[in-house]
Amino acid sequence: HANGVQFAVADLALAQAGRHQIRLAEHEMPGLMTLRHRFAAAQPLRGARIAGSLHMTVQTAVLIETLVALGAQVRWVSCNIFSTQDEAAAAVVVGPQGTVDRPSGTPVFAWKGETLEEYWWCTQQLFDFGDGLGPNTMVDDGGDATLLVHKGVEFESAGAVPAPDEDDHPEYRLILQTLAASLAQDGRRFTRIAQDMRGVTEETTNGVARLYKLAREGRLLFPAINVNDSVTKSKFDNRYGIRHSLIDGINRATDVMLGGKLAVVCGYGDVGKGAAQSLMGQGARVVVTEIDPICALQAAMDGLQVVRLDEVVTQADIFVTATGGTDIIMAADLARMKHNAIVGNIGHFDTEIDMAGLETTAGITRIEVKPQVHEWRFADGHSVLVLSEGRLLNLGNATGHPSFVMSNSFSNQTLAQIELFTKYGEYDNKVYMLPKHLDEEVARLHLDALGVHLTTLTKKQAEYLGVETNGPYKPEHYRY
Ligand code: NAI
Repeated sequence: HANGVQFAVADLALAQAGRHQIRLAEHEMPGLMTLRHRFAAAQPLRGARIAGSLHMTVQTAVLIETLVALGAQVRWVSCNIFSTQDEAAAAVVVGPQGTVDRPSGTPVFAWKGETLEEYWWCTQQLFDFGDGLGPNTMVDDGGDATLLVHKGVEFESAGAVPAPDEDDHPEYRLILQTLAASLAQDGRRFTRIAQDMRGVTEETTNGVARLYKLAREGRLLFPAINVNDSVTKSKFDNRYGIRHSLIDGINRATDVMLGGKLAVVCGYGDVGKGAAQSLMGQGARVVVTEIDPICALQAAMDGLQVVRLDEVVTQADIFVTATGGTDIIMAADLARMKHNAIVGNIGHFDTEIDMAGLETTAGITRIEVKPQVHEWRFADGHSVLVLSEGRLLNLGNATGHPSFVMSNSFSNQTLAQIELFTKYGEYDNKVYMLPKHLDEEVARLHLDALGVHLTTLTKKQAEYLGVETNGPYKPEHYRY
C-alpha cells in the first residue's frame, strides 16, 4: 500500500493513461454520470462497504468512482484472469485527485494475466475493510465472490474444509486451499461477512443461474438482485455490446479478414444474437447451433442456417461459443478443423471449449503467437488458433464492451446497490429484479445522447392502453 491505499496492480505509472480513458468514457456514460450527480448530495451509499468482483476495465472504473461518489467504501477485483485493463486499475488506485506517489483512490487487486492462484488471492482481498470489518454489499459478475462466501460459511459451520477429491476441478481445489487457509486463521470470518451482507447485485447470465440455484435449494445466505435480466442490461449489453466487442477481440487477436469466411456461433441467446450480427456485419457467412427450439427457430427466421457442430466442423473458419454451458467444442472437434481455424469463447466461464482435452492430445504442441493467442499444432502438422485460452475473448483479446452500453448495465448496478443497501430488511434471501419503472428510467437516461425524441402518451391514450402516462408501459410478461 501507499498513502494508506492498498492495491495490487501491474503498474501505477499507467494511471495517467487510464485517467484519460476514464474521462472519455464518462462522456459516453450519460446514465451512470446522471445518477452520480443526482445522488451526490443524498449520499445513499454512505456506510456501504462494497466488495466488487467485475472485469476491471475503464468502464468499471467509472462505476467504481460513481459508487464512491455516492458515499461507499469500495474494494475491487477482476472476475477473470485476462480481463483487467492495467491502466484503468492503476487510475482507480491513484484516484482522480491523487498522484502516483500519493494515491488517494480505491483499493484494486487486479492485473491482466493473473495465474489462477493469484486470481483467488485477489478475490480474498475483497473481504478485509480493516478494523475487523468485512463488506456489507457485493457487486458480482459470474458469482465467484458469492461462491467464496457461501463455501466459506459452509466449511466454517462444518469446522473443516474437505480434502480435495481427485475429480475436483483444479480451480475448485484452489478455492478449497484458499478457504482452508482462511479457516486456520479465523473460523468465523465468512460467517460474520454473510451476517453483515445486505445483498449482492449480479451482472451476468451464469452468475444469475448460480444464484437461482442457491435460492431454489434454500441455501442463499442474503438477498440478491438479478441485474442481468433488467431489459436495459441483457437486451443491450449481452447483445449490442457483443456486436461491438466480439469482432474487436477477433481482429486484435488475428487481424484475419472476416468477410466471406464461414463462422459458427454456438448458442443463439442474447449473446449469440449479438455475435451473429457482429460477424454478419463483416460479411462472414454465419451458421448457428442451438439446443432450444425457440432460439433455433429465431435463428432460422433471421435467415441463419441452424446446424449441428458436426456438420460444419471441417468446413468452418471461425468458431465462437456463446452458450454459458459446458463441453460445446471438444478436443476431437478441434482435431478435425481446417488449418488455422480460429476458435474462441465469449461465454462467462472457460468450460465451453475443451482446453484440458486439447492439452492432453497426443503429439500436440502449443505455440504462443502473442499473449492470449495460441496456435495448437497437431501431430499431422495442422493447427487451430485458440483465443484467450478459452476464456471470454472480447475481454481477453480486446477491451470488452464500449462505454455507452456499459452505462446501461452499470446504471442498473448502481440502482440495485442503492436499493439493497437502503432498503435492507425489505428483502428476503431470494433473487429479485429491479422494478420496471427503474428499467425504463435507465433507458430514458440514454435517449438524449442519441437525439431520441420520445412521444408522450396523452391521458386518453394511456387510459386506452391501461397504463400510466409515466409508465411502466409494459406488463411484466412482455418480452421486448
Ligand atoms: P442465454 O441463455 O440467453 O443464451 C445461451 C444460449 O445457448 C441459449 O439459447 C441456449 O439454448 C443455448 N445453448 C445452451 N447449451 C447449448 C449447446 N450445448 N449447444 C448450442 N446451444 C446451446 O445466455 P446469454 O445471456 O446469451 O449469455 C451467454 C453467455 O455469455 C453466458 O455465459 C453469459 O454469462 C456470457 N456473457 C458474456 C459477456 C461478455 O462480455 N463476454 C456479456 C454477457 C454475457
